[in-house]
Amino acid sequence: MSSAILSSFQAYAPGKTDLLSVAWGLVALLTIYITHWLYRWRNPKTKGVLPPGSMGLPFIGETIQLIMPSASIDLPPFIKSRLKRYGPIFRTNVAGRPVIISADREFNYYILRQDGRLVDTWSLDTFAEVFDQTSQSSRKYTRNLTLNHFGVEALKERLIPRMEDTIRKTLAAWSSQESMEVKSAAITLTIDFAARQLFSGDLEKAPLKLSDMFNDLVEGLMSFPLNIPGTAHHKCLKIHKEVRLMMGDVLKKRRMSPPSSSHGTDRQEDLLDHLIQDMNKESFLNEDFVVQLMFGLLFVTSDSISTTLALAFKLLAEHPSVLEELTAEHEEILKNRENADSPLTWNEYKSMTFTLQVIHEVLRLGNIAPGLFRRALQDIPVNGYTIPKGWVIMIATAALHLNSNQFDDPLVFNPRRWKDIQSSVVSKSFMPFGVGLKQCAGAEYSRVFLATFLHVLVTKYRWAIVKGGKIVRAPIIRFPDGFHYKISEKIN
Ligand code: HEM
Repeated sequence: MSSAILSSFQAYAPGKTDLLSVAWGLVALLTIYITHWLYRWRNPKTKGVLPPGSMGLPFIGETIQLIMPSASIDLPPFIKSRLKRYGPIFRTNVAGRPVIISADREFNYYILRQDGRLVDTWSLDTFAEVFDQTSQSSRKYTRNLTLNHFGVEALKERLIPRMEDTIRKTLAAWSSQESMEVKSAAITLTIDFAARQLFSGDLEKAPLKLSDMFNDLVEGLMSFPLNIPGTAHHKCLKIHKEVRLMMGDVLKKRRMSPPSSSHGTDRQEDLLDHLIQDMNKESFLNEDFVVQLMFGLLFVTSDSISTTLALAFKLLAEHPSVLEELTAEHEEILKNRENADSPLTWNEYKSMTFTLQVIHEVLRLGNIAPGLFRRALQDIPVNGYTIPKGWVIMIATAALHLNSNQFDDPLVFNPRRWKDIQSSVVSKSFMPFGVGLKQCAGAEYSRVFLATFLHVLVTKYRWAIVKGGKIVRAPIIRFPDGFHYKISEKIN
């Protein structure tokens, strides 16, 4: 029976020639498929004409070129060379995602006012995983909460004296060291200060230091999103998990023993108390959301301010005439006081004209956020091209800030340029904090923090470089060897 089956199978089995033709057919089909796929990769489907550019290699696009470090404060060569070749709007592909990069000031200004209509917010993969995409109502909640605890009223009522006190103690400690690496020291300063406003120092006795963890985390945020051990992305996600566990613990403990029983009644309400009260009112405010929000706020309050501070240290040390004018402004503030030791006030902050020009100039050159990211909600026509629905749009703010049509000698640190700059240039070509509905909710807090720091620094201290000072863009600005300074108290 079995031999009968075998012989009948052999009778129907294909011969060698048939097998070969099937194999050739498969190869031909595969070749056609791959060629078509490659063609589609290079020429994505669109109803109109795509902006010029290249989609790079299959799967990874032009990611490697984009994150390739360049040792300069200038625009990354990736963007600079493509702007030259293709004009102000070009297409590319980053980590498998089609992206339009725009340095067109009119289009950028327009698109940033279309949030929720033509575009919505989008984040790079690591950012997206670390800062969960949130719904519209939770975004509004976060914005209002931030403004409530870090906005103008909070600054006027309580934050300025707290900041000044913390900065005075910090600088006194820095000046007792032989040398300070100012970027990581500034992360510690800004994290510790923000953590006190968020959860009143509940983590001060924690075994792992928050500021150390954030120092490592930042490195991975702009990395290639490859989650395997050894990569910066993997490390970043690991730290993110650890920080969230710590925050989750803080939240649980606070919920179990509310402030009146554990902290005493003299403690002022902090952001976490506020969140816990609102947890009963807002359905999206679950433990996960609260932990994520605290993490996000710690991040935004620390990385950008500390980078700006470190850069200000370097640029002021390299430009003595600017430092002189800045110092004069702050000495004038002290002279105008009845008591030179009285705390810094909101009105004094508002009188710091040159200081704010210095801060603008550091932010313009620093380009801490090199771009703003949006996703097209529908096909968007621009300059005869079409940006297809679903594509990411990177508003290259750095290209606006370093454009020689708007800023003479754009790579020169010249705060005095702001004396003559028209408001139309400011609104369309200077947006370190973004514009429109999603403009940074911590912009005033950041300016006040930086101004208060500069006030204490230039009136009491001088500083000299010990080592480091190298700047790299990848494309986020980084200081690979650190900025090591000797800070000494001024002798009057
Ligand atoms: C030098 C310091 C800072 C810079 C350069 C900066 C930059 C930015 C930028 C460019 C955006 C807009 C993003 C977009 O349009 O997609 C933004 C949004 C935001 N920033 Fe900042 N930021 C800084 C400090 C802070 C601080 C200290 C806080 C908190 C106290 C903060 C909280 C926020 C929040 C909550 C948003 C989202 C606003 C919304 O979607 O409504 N930022 N920031």
